[in-house]
Amino acid sequence: MFNNKIKNICCIGAGYVGGPTMAVFANHCLNIKITVSDINEKRINAWNDSDISNLPIYEPGLDTLISRSRNKNLFFTTNIKESIAEADLIFLSVNTPTKSKGIGAGKASDLKWVEASARQIAKFSRGHTIVVEKSTLPVRTAKTIEKILSESQEIDENQEKKTFSVLSNPEFLSEGNAINDLERPDRVLIGGEDQSAINLLVDLYLNWVPREKIILTNIWSSELSKLTANAFLAQRISSINAISSLCEATGADIKQVSKAIGMDTRIGNKFLLPGPGFGGSCFQKDILNLVYLCEYYNLHEVAAYWEGVININNWQKDRIFKLIVIKLFGTVFEKKLAILGFSFKANTNDTRNSASIQICKNLIEEGAILSIYDPKVGSNQIDEDLNLPFHKTNSKKNMQWTKTDSIQSAIKDCHAIIILTEWDEFQKIQWESLIKKMKRPAWIFDTRSVVDVSKAEQAGFNVWQIGNYTS
Ligand code: UDX
Ligand code: UDX
Repeated sequence: MFNNKIKNICCIGAGYVGGPTMAVFANHCLNIKITVSDINEKRINAWNDSDISNLPIYEPGLDTLISRSRNKNLFFTTNIKESIAEADLIFLSVNTPTKSKGIGAGKASDLKWVEASARQIAKFSRGHTIVVEKSTLPVRTAKTIEKILSESQEIDENQEKKTFSVLSNPEFLSEGNAINDLERPDRVLIGGEDQSAINLLVDLYLNWVPREKIILTNIWSSELSKLTANAFLAQRISSINAISSLCEATGADIKQVSKAIGMDTRIGNKFLLPGPGFGGSCFQKDILNLVYLCEYYNLHEVAAYWEGVININNWQKDRIFKLIVIKLFGTVFEKKLAILGFSFKANTNDTRNSASIQICKNLIEEGAILSIYDPKVGSNQIDEDLNLPFHKTNSKKNMQWTKTDSIQSAIKDCHAIIILTEWDEFQKIQWESLIKKMKRPAWIFDTRSVVDVSKAEQAGFNVWQIGNYTS
């Protein structure tokens, strides 16, 4: 039905997925004009900022790609109408957070932005348009999009009825490693029925992805595969975190256990690092989505099984908070504590669902005064995430937290250092020089296994490390 080559691509949503994904497409598809549009003007201005260090998201290697293609074949705009009208193919990359109220609250995905985008596509598109779901969506969302598009009865300016093909092409990039994941994906998954639309999308990827890595499925399998991949990954983290607590109780060492099980090729050695609990925009949301779906289909045992992954994740954050309080003589009231790392993992400025948020909130609730250091997260973001009713930055007495610009200033006069993100620089800390500036006894709580425990102990610290037995 539609055999032209793709000349114009539009991506709706200039976020952590849309931005890097389109940067990689632009670098490999030089003859295609790619426009990334977003309703958030501030974000678009940041993508267009002539100072490349002001990009709205931090992702290693992204600045180089953007400098190479921006305003050549890659454009960022708030003019959604024009970018949809020009496009032969549209990637939908808007956010789909968990619903906070109404039917399915706390579990189901909020599809209001997907639906709004579909309606805008119906209104502004011309001729035939391929619509590709990039956002992670509940299974069968493609049908909803298709229905909105096909029943819109819109005609274009040539008085012809608009036509659409809907494909699912979920993104598997992991933040902090996004460019590498996009350049060398383990697989590209395309779900759909319209063979000519599928061929056009495959052709785009063939510019840099080997054919054998591109797999084709029906649309429901594609949507469900994305949810399942994230659920399996998250399940691995909850599994290793559950075992980390058992190691701490018994004297086994989680690093040794991880190594031993990871050498079994059936298990594999990746994604076996214990931590303070998984964060990020996807894992929790996608599992909740899966749980909601299972409940809808009366598969209550299956729903409970996956919900267990989230329960362990919440428990991990809670137990870490509690053990910090217990080790600091049962109270952190008016004690200064240094928080190293606020993002949900290293090499990103993203804090969505970061374990740091809950742990910091709980410590503040207990009366602790936090000095927070993160190399990429700013104080406005921390303020928004902690969302405290009375954060009095001006009154020293009531100050609940401050953001510092270095590790050195964060730890000054602190009783403890709590490492929550595995940033490289935390692995290189010279502990002897730090302890002199701290209150004694001085503690390190290492939730990311980045500390050389014997060196830190030699320097005079008491150390608690995740998955490591301490009396
Ligand atoms: C999002 C989803 O969270 C994830 O499930 C999906 O797989 C990909 O899209 P991410 O890119 O990380 O991931 O989200 P975010 O950084 O919030 O970006 C989404 C962007 O869409 C925001 O900049 C938002 O302003 C924009 N948006 C949202 C629109 O442009 N139009 C809308 O109607 C709604
Ligand atoms: C994840 C998926 O990996 C990706 O395929 C999908 O597209 C989006 O969701 P992301 O959330 O960006 O990506 O990062 P990921 O590396 O998966 O880490 C998620 C969380 O798990 C982080 O908080 C991380 O610190 C934690 N984690 C990861 C561990 O605690 N241990 C590990 O071994 C790996």
